[in-house]
Amino acid sequence: MNDKQKVAVHVANLIEQGMVVGLGTGSTANYFIEHLAKRRQEEGLDVTAVASSVVSTIKAQQLGLPLLAIEHISQLDLYVDGADEVTLGMSLLKGRGFDLVKEKLLAKASEQFYVMVDNEKVVSRIGEKFPIPVEVTPFAWKMVLRSLQQIGGDGDLRQTSNGDGLAITSHGSLVLDMTFDSSLAADELNAELNTIPGIVEHGIFHYLATDIFVANQGEIEHLDSPQ
Ligand code: A5P
Repeated sequence: MNDKQKVAVHVANLIEQGMVVGLGTGSTANYFIEHLAKRRQEEGLDVTAVASSVVSTIKAQQLGLPLLAIEHISQLDLYVDGADEVTLGMSLLKGRGFDLVKEKLLAKASEQFYVMVDNEKVVSRIGEKFPIPVEVTPFAWKMVLRSLQQIGGDGDLRQTSNGDGLAITSHGSLVLDMTFDSSLAADELNAELNTIPGIVEHGIFHYLATDIFVANQGEIEHLDSPQ
């Protein structure tokens, strides 16, 4: 079992009877969905899921997990997802995929948000390894890019993987992948990005995670929020 599987199985084993659980998106989230479905089948675990993406919806359906549509709920017990970067101060970077709007909504609407990562995702500063994805309303992208440049950002629209078009998120937005001066802390950047019109959502998840589980060569370390 690799570290992503290990941490996903560990977190799936923490799910309790009767919970409404949000399903994240990505390879670690997929392992979590698989083990959750296994527990439902083998142990009769009573669980209802809410998916953050088409991919996690399909995965959950294939494995027989009962699903609620996101528009039918206002809150849930727990959201479980991977991340692209985490800091020991509990900030996250997400959105290398295309589903961060639903991911952040579910994280915010949950009593608890469990994050599953391997040790390579732990950084000292958000934005250390990856650019920060900023989802923008398509017609506003130039205005948003200028606003981001004014606070020291540098970046451009995300292209499709074969480079012949622009990437479109599952929400129908374009994405600006941005790097910022390393002196801007995640909380400052989060506050700045939250005020710019035309930004639909961005990949800094600040003060949302309640628990982070880090797998490191088979061992699981648990960080929890002081909130
Ligand atoms: C989805 O938008 C992303 O934030 C994923 O949660 C993140 O990329 C983690 O993916 P892996 O579990 O595949 O590493």
